[in-house]
Amino acid sequence: MSKKEKQNLQANNLIIENFSEPHLNEVFSIESNSNPTPWKIDTFKQVLEVRTMSFVIKDESKIIAFCIASKVLEECHLQNISVIEGFRNHGLGTYVIEVLIGRAKIFGLKVIFLEVRESNKVAISFYKKLNFKEVGRREGYYKKDSGRESALLMSLALS
Ligand SMILES: CC(C)(COP(=O)(O)OP(=O)(O)OC[C@H]1O[C@@H](n2cnc3c(N)ncnc32)[C@H](O)[C@@H]1OP(=O)(O)O)[C@@H](O)C(=O)NCCC(=O)NCCS
Repeated sequence: MSKKEKQNLQANNLIIENFSEPHLNEVFSIESNSNPTPWKIDTFKQVLEVRTMSFVIKDESKIIAFCIASKVLEECHLQNISVIEGFRNHGLGTYVIEVLIGRAKIFGLKVIFLEVRESNKVAISFYKKLNFKEVGRREGYYKKDSGRESALLMSLALS
């Protein structure tokens, strides 16, 4: 992260945009560098077709984080979140979740659900810090290089 990027982050000088077609390639590239079994670009395209609650965060013109989420009845489902390497551990992921919570509340949603790989210790401690609680486990939910691994199901009640 450059000095200017750090100042922008600290000043919360960031832009939030609804996830849309022009973001597709950049989001896909971030995903490819963040996820051991990345989503295919077609999966992101499908998200665009259904117009979800998804958004990106930009520092000037560069996307530095994204959040893919949908609403199902009174539930928000967080499907994917990523902060680009070099910007992690500076509170940006927390900000993404705060934005999502704000949006979910506007829609009157009551809870956020997510699944996370059991081996993704960083993400699990991130969600726990944000008060998400472990509410279940899905056996063999994710593919990995060889075989499969389980997902923890976590939730955050919105008051
Ligand atoms: C998970 C992720 C979004 C967190 O974003 P971030 O901007 O780094 O998170 P924050 O800086 O807001 O961290 C908030 C808290 O999360 C936890 N955390 C963050 N990074 C951590 C790390 N490397 N190790 C342990 N805990 C960590 C800490 O509790 C931290 O609080 P603290 O700063 O007071 O210690 C980011 O690591 C990421 O993009 N990972 C790759 C994609 C991914 O795994 N997505 C989740 C899929 S379910």
